[in-house]
Amino acid sequence: MRNVPLVDLKAQYREIKEELFNMWEEILEGMRLYLGPNVQTFEKEFGEYIGVADCIGVGNGTEAVHYAIRAAGVNSGEKVITVSHTFFATIEAIIHAGAEPVMVDINEDTYNISPDRILEYIETKCRFDGETLIDKSDGKVVRAILPVHLYGQSACMGRIMEIAKKYNLKVIEDAAQAQGAEYNGRKVGSIGDVAGFSFYFSKNLGAFGEAGGVTTNDPDIAYMVKRLREHGQKDKYHHEMFGFNGRLDELQAAVLRLKLKRLDKWNERRRMIARMYNDYLSDLPIKTPVEHEKAKHVYHLYVIRTERRDELFNYLRENGVGAGIHYPVPCHKQEPLKELNISLPITEKVADEIISLPIHPHMTDADVEYVCDTIRAFFAGG
Ligand SMILES: Cc1ncc(COP(=O)(O)O)c(C=O)c1O
Repeated sequence: MRNVPLVDLKAQYREIKEELFNMWEEILEGMRLYLGPNVQTFEKEFGEYIGVADCIGVGNGTEAVHYAIRAAGVNSGEKVITVSHTFFATIEAIIHAGAEPVMVDINEDTYNISPDRILEYIETKCRFDGETLIDKSDGKVVRAILPVHLYGQSACMGRIMEIAKKYNLKVIEDAAQAQGAEYNGRKVGSIGDVAGFSFYFSKNLGAFGEAGGVTTNDPDIAYMVKRLREHGQKDKYHHEMFGFNGRLDELQAAVLRLKLKRLDKWNERRRMIARMYNDYLSDLPIKTPVEHEKAKHVYHLYVIRTERRDELFNYLRENGVGAGIHYPVPCHKQEPLKELNISLPITEKVADEIISLPIHPHMTDADVEYVCDTIRAFFAGG
């Protein structure tokens, strides 16, 4: 039996090990650990890569999305339209900002937020006075749309930006899973007002620990995020507001700089593996991922669907394939949100049918074939 893990970070580490040790040696000899040259250079390099004026390194992706929401001007008690089919951190970020999530359903083919469902909420539940969108049920202001580029594929940003413009809403991208993904030739993280990235170690661009970043073209938003990540400090020990301790650290920034140089190559390999999966699995009774015509998917996760999900998942695990489920319980069904008592039929159906297959840049063709042969054997009766 072969062992094919969901992700393999050791191979990535071996690729950058020598350069990394040299950089870490220099950092540790100099002991400049506080927002030093590697953080500053990474911010510049990642900002250029995404195509924005500013990137601000922060401690993790949850903070990145949280600060992005606050800096975009979402006030306490206001509403943010988003999805339930995401990692729980998206919702936590909204809650931490003092705002309230309005979760709408997803597109069944791409698993990303449905612009039709956003419009349905706005047109049936809200009123617009030409400047402000207000939820008629409680009179609360709806301030923003927060699309998540789930699994490495951009949400439908064209229509989302149109809706936002019409109803004067901010757009905050949760790009935690989509470093390098594009929509209509533009990198995600450069399309909305502001975006939050996670550089958690298993992401397409990941630190060897926790890290995150905020990208924006708006200087006021960038200024605010810089204050938020550092206790509201303008200058050392001069606090102009209450903030947080949410800085990116120098050792992680060095890792990110080395991996950023390889990100396009690694994403191309992920896309190649996805094409192999699509080909090998095309005649089986499963649904393979659909790429939106304007989106360039970077396959943070390769997610298939079958009604026999639990059986297939167990079979894969028993046969050495590190399958995952992202995510088995939608956010609106999680304990702290249960009382909302909302129904999102596509989200709920998808959560019961999805399986993530192993995908990472150092996976071999033989690994991909083994995963596909195992799935074939399952459908042939195991
Ligand atoms: C969609 C999404 N948003 C936010 C986050 C939070 O990022 P972090 O784990 O770096 O805090 C994640 C992390 O997995 C994520 O997948």
